[in-house]
Amino acid sequence: MQVAPIAFDQFNALADQDAQARIEAAKARLGKRAVLLCHHYQRADVYRHADITGDSLKLSRLASQTEAEYIVFCGVHFMAEVADILSRPEQISILPDMAAGCSMADMASRAKVERCWRELAEVLDPDEKVTPVTYINSAADLKAFCGEHGGIVCTSSNAPKILQWSFARREKVLFFPDQHLGRWSGHKMGIPLDEMVIWNPDLEMGGLTPEQIRRAKIILWHGYCSVHQMFQKSQIDRFRAQWPDGKVISHPECSFEVCAASDYIGSTETILRTVHDEPHTRWIVGTELNLVDRLAEEVKPQGKTVQFMAGTVCMCSTMQRIDPQHLAWTLENLVAGNVVNRISVPAHEAGLARIALERMLDAS
Ligand code: 13P
Ligand code: SF4
Repeated sequence: MQVAPIAFDQFNALADQDAQARIEAAKARLGKRAVLLCHHYQRADVYRHADITGDSLKLSRLASQTEAEYIVFCGVHFMAEVADILSRPEQISILPDMAAGCSMADMASRAKVERCWRELAEVLDPDEKVTPVTYINSAADLKAFCGEHGGIVCTSSNAPKILQWSFARREKVLFFPDQHLGRWSGHKMGIPLDEMVIWNPDLEMGGLTPEQIRRAKIILWHGYCSVHQMFQKSQIDRFRAQWPDGKVISHPECSFEVCAASDYIGSTETILRTVHDEPHTRWIVGTELNLVDRLAEEVKPQGKTVQFMAGTVCMCSTMQRIDPQHLAWTLENLVAGNVVNRISVPAHEAGLARIALERMLDAS
């Protein structure tokens, strides 16, 4: 007999240390039936329970390989969707708080991308000339759009490689939703900035003339990450003036000016590895605060100092919603035989999205 799920109300007011103890107890009871995948931006009080940590590419690969019955994703909505799409049908993907979305992913929708595709068709044949490339930070129906139209998914760690894959097939790329990752990756491939144009989805024809569309190599969606837009080149300039031997490392979701002024650019996993492995002892890091705080502690014993790029606190407020209370609630329900907050992508959409994701995994 199905037991009614335990309501979250009973967990809302749970003291942090009680939630920690209950997470540990539930994990012990579930054993190998549940795996906790944790993105690097996750808060410390959740991250400590991770079985596997990683950037989006690593976590999507591991989600496709795990044997666990339950994949509990401590990240944001699109990550749990990817886990559902790439895992076997009998595996269950769970997001402990459904409000953990990604504001950048929300900047592109299927309806707006389809409208863009129709408007491009007034100037050229997009299915012949344009590869749609979606950043993994996007809803499953946009990955399905790419699967359907000869397109592909990319992450922050493989975007230049994915652009090469795309240009080997068609002469132009429509890149959504992150303009900054698209621009930086195009620049790394040697594409001049004036051959990358911005498509504003709120304007007719994206605000572009037919001539601008015909000349463009990459059409960049007008999307961005609200966390990474906080980092400014002036913060790097101040750091360099104070520490001429210091090194700057940034995530490619930062603006072009910040990326161009950095010594290293990389995904969250690359940022961690680089600061750990390179010999330099003073760093400024342009990515989310939970990651930077953890990294600073980890490398302190090596005599390294790591500082956050922005002057103000900027966390990924949506990822922050996965707290110990929601994690305890999710796991105790699993122990009791209830699945709460399942992320399940409809089969047809998942099939098409999987095509675009598998093209990415094969190409990277
Ligand atoms: P990574 O793939 O580098 O972990 O980035 C994910 C993300 O959302 C960064 O904002
Ligand atoms: Fe999305 Fe930005 Fe959060 Fe990454 S940091 S999950 S892009 S809102």
